[in-house]
Amino acid sequence: MSGNPLGKNPTDVWEIPNVKANHVEKTIHPCQFPIELVERLVLALTNPGDLVVDPYIGVGSTAAAAVLHGRRSAGADTVAEYLDIARERVRAAAEGTLRRRPMDRPVYEPSPTSRLAQRPLEWDRQTPRDAEERGE
Ligand SMILES: C[S@@+](CC[C@H](N)C(=O)[O-])C[C@H]1O[C@@H](n2cnc3c(N)ncnc32)[C@H](O)[C@@H]1O
Repeated sequence: MSGNPLGKNPTDVWEIPNVKANHVEKTIHPCQFPIELVERLVLALTNPGDLVVDPYIGVGSTAAAAVLHGRRSAGADTVAEYLDIARERVRAAAEGTLRRRPMDRPVYEPSPTSRLAQRPLEWDRQTPRDAEERGE
């Protein structure tokens, strides 16, 4: 193999946990962005005071990221409940009380001996079909 085993441009890959289960940013929205993802784009592509518009704003991750970095924000969504949460998150971002994962926190690596890093037992359990395929 001649290429880098980590990919063509390994340092260009952003490792950002998605927002699920017990993520600190999780709300009722089924598919919200991590704020950290938007923060990087806001910092790279806009200047302080710029207007960041997200026409599908959901619970306001884009707006929160914009406000955290001194940008203005606007957006729309068809679900009123999401917009209520978005307004609340933007307010918290402006006041410095927003619950969020910090932008540069490394991705958690569990110890190889922890239960999180183990193969689930059921993956190794044999099914009757496994045995049948081996002629047992
Ligand atoms: C992938 S989600 C966006 C989530 C958002 N980035 C966040 O982090 O909360 C897409 C959103 O688009 C909204 N949506 C769908 N159709 C829409 C429309 N016609 N106009 C505005 N919003 C719409 C949905 O309600 C949903 O919240």
